[in-house]
Amino acid sequence: MHFTRKVTQDLTWVGADDRRLACFEGVYGVPDGVSYNSYLLQDEKTVLFDTVDKAVYQTFFENLNAALAGRKLDYLVISHMEPDHAYTIEALLTRYPEVTILCNSKIQAMLGQFFDLDFDGKLHLVKEGDTFSSGRHSFTFIMAPMVHWPEVMMTYDLTDKLLFSADAFGTFGALNGRLFADEGDFFGENLDEARRYYTNIVGKYGAQVQAVLKKAAKLELDYVCPLHGPVWRSRFGDFLEKYQLWSSYTPEENSVCIAYASVYGHTENAANILAGKLVERGIKVRMFDTSVTPASYILSNAFRCSHLVLASTTYNMGIFVTMENLIHDLVNHNLQNRAVVLLENGSWAPASGKLMREALGTLKGVRFLNDTVTIKSALKEEQLVQLDAVVDAIAAELVPAAEQ
Ligand code: FEO
Repeated sequence: MHFTRKVTQDLTWVGADDRRLACFEGVYGVPDGVSYNSYLLQDEKTVLFDTVDKAVYQTFFENLNAALAGRKLDYLVISHMEPDHAYTIEALLTRYPEVTILCNSKIQAMLGQFFDLDFDGKLHLVKEGDTFSSGRHSFTFIMAPMVHWPEVMMTYDLTDKLLFSADAFGTFGALNGRLFADEGDFFGENLDEARRYYTNIVGKYGAQVQAVLKKAAKLELDYVCPLHGPVWRSRFGDFLEKYQLWSSYTPEENSVCIAYASVYGHTENAANILAGKLVERGIKVRMFDTSVTPASYILSNAFRCSHLVLASTTYNMGIFVTMENLIHDLVNHNLQNRAVVLLENGSWAPASGKLMREALGTLKGVRFLNDTVTIKSALKEEQLVQLDAVVDAIAAELVPAAEQ
């Protein structure tokens, strides 16, 4: 049985939720599932905006078939060729062989790469600023390279003032029947998963996101329809503010993200003491064990917090593996403009501090607040002064002078 919902009088959501996916893109856990959004416009012509992942193709076709209600499908707009949206294109063409595909030349090239199909005569190529009419609705196309792949484009419906934003403004989590962000407490319940989605999926490409945000700022937006997560029809400006912060690598809050890697608990002990001292000074702390919390969550909090404390034991003369994985993610997602504190541990040859500093030192706007605190096996009483110095350095930046 189909399940669809109306976005506007003419536009119907025909996507699907996936709650069985363990790891989105094979790496990001999605315990609350994910939605693959597809939208059907019923105008003088029918226009489908993107398809879905193979995992939900059957539900998608039930929904699309019901929404079409016997009409033929005239157009498919492809925003993005990543298979979580494009996998089902081949099956769509089998069921609706007369459909014309609206896409750009980069999407055309990827169609040839992903599919052994003959697209001759099926494509209508568009570029930045081109317009198209389906009858009552007219559209313009906005190229959005690297948000999140190079071929990505957005489509703006001038009639409904509605933006099909591709991956941008997406959120992890199944919709669970809730199509619109304002049908629940998005900023209370979903913002963390929106941040984790943004930072892990698009976080590396802040400059490109900023370029698209500048284009979007010129548009009147009554609706924003992303490929994942809820549709926006109110309070979009509040979400846009978060995107401005995330894409410019500006912290959302004055706080400290502490991540530690500890094999037997001694590095954890130092991190715990540091956390306690920070909280005693009125500083907000968000704390993670890299062996327990997946890197995608910690990365998301590193984008959120102004200060970052990384504490790692030395392992095989390197950084402990779970911390090494986190640092790999921080570097590859291009985190910038953070104050960093490093703690290292090593019973005979501590090396993790130097290696962490080398890796993070490549990032733009990263400042190290201290000489690395070195623990040999276990923190000693006389080293508390070093932790106090770290707390003083952080407090000098986060606690108002009158309260210090
Ligand atoms: Fe949701 Fe970049 O695909």
